[in-house]
Amino acid sequence: DKGTYPYYMLKEVDEQPAVIRRIEAKYLDHAGNIHFDQALLDQINQASKLYIVGAGTSYHAGLVGKKLFEKFTKTPTEVVLASEFAYDDPIIEDQAFFIFLSQSGETADSRQVLVRVNDEWQKPSLTITNVANSTLAREADFSATLEAGPEIAVASTKAYTAQIAVEALLAVAMGREKTNATAVNFDITGQLSKVANAIQTVVDEKGKIEELALATLRKTRNAFYIGRGLDYNVALESSLKLKEISYIQAEGFASGELKHGTIALIEDGTPVIGIITQSKTADHTRSNLQEVLSRGANVITMVSEDLANSTDDILLPVVDEMLMPLVSVIAAQLLAYYASLQRGYNVDQPRNLAKSVTVE
Ligand code: F6R
Repeated sequence: DKGTYPYYMLKEVDEQPAVIRRIEAKYLDHAGNIHFDQALLDQINQASKLYIVGAGTSYHAGLVGKKLFEKFTKTPTEVVLASEFAYDDPIIEDQAFFIFLSQSGETADSRQVLVRVNDEWQKPSLTITNVANSTLAREADFSATLEAGPEIAVASTKAYTAQIAVEALLAVAMGREKTNATAVNFDITGQLSKVANAIQTVVDEKGKIEELALATLRKTRNAFYIGRGLDYNVALESSLKLKEISYIQAEGFASGELKHGTIALIEDGTPVIGIITQSKTADHTRSNLQEVLSRGANVITMVSEDLANSTDDILLPVVDEMLMPLVSVIAAQLLAYYASLQRGYNVDQPRNLAKSVTVE
């Protein structure tokens, strides 16, 4: 039931602070211990290589996950598109462990990879899903739930943030067992609470985001999201959100790649949305934005408060940089929502799309 909301998507965007708190309640206790199946932790910590498998938004959550697993566990991690990997000829390490990300747990492309993992490669696996008794949950060795509640809108929002939060918890839990100093010193309880509050702050800025969408995205044919590192990962997810519900041709780019070709597409009025939450690369992305500005781009910036200046458009409350994707993506979800609404589309039921893709 969407209650007083015009669309499920807006309701699901608004639910995200509560989803983060539910995840905290499920996976953390009052002493700050993280709870996953001990057999899972024992098994996954033997891995010399992690594979994260997903499609669409779940693949994008995997890109963020790679950085979390590598930071907190020092285990080399590769993120693969299910539809590609299902037919690739990869060299699988002996000590490989597979993590499947799937909101529905029913995506045929991801299942096709799991069939190979079980039958051909015979490697251990975990499915992280919103549907506890789904096919992918049943067929993997382990499963963990997202606690996001049913996601009805075709465009995935709260499942993405839930996937990243659960990946962060798992990565820190693994790292603690390995006595990795970064993981041991990371206050995951405090950080997730900050994240829930930060998401709430962005959600409360909807009016501002609605105006930005109206000024920038109402008439355009195309748009670009740019960023570096984790901000690039979020740029990919942000552009997917925009294209699937507003039908704007949107692309996410690594800021530094612009000058290697894509900048040719920038014309007078082309919307370019810059995401800046990582201190190491903030200045670089700023200069890339300067380059597109001088070619007439219509620039919107989404910036962590501690990296912001007075000309930035959307200010994001600060949490640990590793978790900033959980905050910046909310602004992008809302921009996509309002762009779709203002262009007169059915936000929840975009053309040509199904909620769960059960064909390969
Ligand atoms: C985008 C979207 C899709 C799904 C993809 C995978 O908003 O919803 O890209 O993320 O079809 O679905 P799951 O996560 O159910 O495997």
